[in-house]
Amino acid sequence: MKVEVPSYYEIMQLPDLPAFDYQPQPYHGPSAEEVLRLRRQFLNPGIFLYYKRPLMIVEGKGQYVFDEQGRRYLDALGGIVTISVGHCHPDVVAAAHHQNELLQHSTTIYLHPNIAEYAQKLAAKMPGDLKVCYFVNSGSEANDLALLMARAYTGNYDVIALRNSYHGGNAAGMGLTAHRTWKFNVPHGFGVHHAVAPDPFRGAWGRDDARAGFNYAADVKSLIDHATSGRVAAFIAESIQGVGGCVVFPDNYLKHAYEHVRAAGGLCIADEVQTGFGRTGTHYWGFETQDVIPDVVTLAKGIGNGAPLGAVVTTHKIASAIAQRLHFNTFGGNPVVCAQGAAVLDVIEREKLQANALRIGNQILGGLSTLQAKHNIIGDIRGKGLLLGIELVKDRTTKEPATDESAHVLESCRDMGLLLGKGGLYGQTIRFSPPMCAHEKDADFLLEILDAAFNAL
Ligand SMILES: Cc1ncc(COP(=O)(O)O)c(C=O)c1O
Repeated sequence: MKVEVPSYYEIMQLPDLPAFDYQPQPYHGPSAEEVLRLRRQFLNPGIFLYYKRPLMIVEGKGQYVFDEQGRRYLDALGGIVTISVGHCHPDVVAAAHHQNELLQHSTTIYLHPNIAEYAQKLAAKMPGDLKVCYFVNSGSEANDLALLMARAYTGNYDVIALRNSYHGGNAAGMGLTAHRTWKFNVPHGFGVHHAVAPDPFRGAWGRDDARAGFNYAADVKSLIDHATSGRVAAFIAESIQGVGGCVVFPDNYLKHAYEHVRAAGGLCIADEVQTGFGRTGTHYWGFETQDVIPDVVTLAKGIGNGAPLGAVVTTHKIASAIAQRLHFNTFGGNPVVCAQGAAVLDVIEREKLQANALRIGNQILGGLSTLQAKHNIIGDIRGKGLLLGIELVKDRTTKEPATDESAHVLESCRDMGLLLGKGGLYGQTIRFSPPMCAHEKDADFLLEILDAAFNAL
């Protein structure tokens, strides 16, 4: 199907989406205009929409989604880094469907095989002594629980997080997050101190500096010495900052930061909500790309391919610290989401999606470098596997963020059948995180469309 495009693209030869043998179902629901009206009248006004002409997505298959008119788009944002194995993967759907028919809910006060078997399977993917799983419903909840665990275990209070981080929208997550966009002007995040973001593009030490990781980590030590009693409960970091615009830390940053934190009695928490489950390509977990083993790992998003599932994984020793009180979460480890989570692990393995993330990610990265040579507005390209970003700047010397241009590129790509994300404090970074089943032809399509969007700026 040739995509419908606004007139200024008509003169260009735009590529078709790769062929895909799937027919979406006819849509009989309310129109996009009606849904927008209902949202405005009955939904939280704080939720935001992408695109001037809001997009309504009613079906998804693999790496593609369909709007209510049956138009197909390449979902290169993956439901904000959540669709790991592909939209409505048949195995994941079947697992959820089977469990939905048997028993939808029981809670952990009774035995159920799914939660126990899934915990075993998930723990088997973790290195070292990370063998105890807690199940929750979201990444924010996982981070909240991880903080509780660190404080209960260490007896310390202060927490070091990073500037430019995103860790969730509840009180704990908002406190850890360091982006004004997501922070309400209310008390939150008691005891949280934010270290300098180890951002080689905007920070003091760049990629050409072999000691950059060491130098950025020194700020963690300085913060511990100046802002706390010298003893801390935890250090938390995403393994690549996602919402912050796909910021990849210099080599050895986490290694040195962990040393400072452990010397101050703290636990090291890796927020793997975006970087887990093979997405970085070279490793199953993002922290492995920095050659560290954390004490606590928090998971969500891609873990369930769309199911409301989050998890915290830690060691038996640390887990025992929060066994001093009862722990209960009504939906955490629900039989249906555990069935779905287990199916996701199997699909990643069987379909070798980690290797595919590396291959397709490298193909996209290579194409992005070609685009960077052609379009001055691309200040930086970065990422690992299928977690990639390009930072747009008005001027490569001043690095002034090109916020409007980034929004414009997103709009034009959507018009041409490509859905992308944006991140960074100013929305200046375009993000790519398609489902890990994306194909070479999808990468070609993405690059050609992006080129057309830059040409049209
Ligand atoms: C790195 C990271 N941690 C935590 C969260 C919060 O997850 P949730 O939205 O499931 O609460 C997010 C969400 O975007 C995230 O990107």
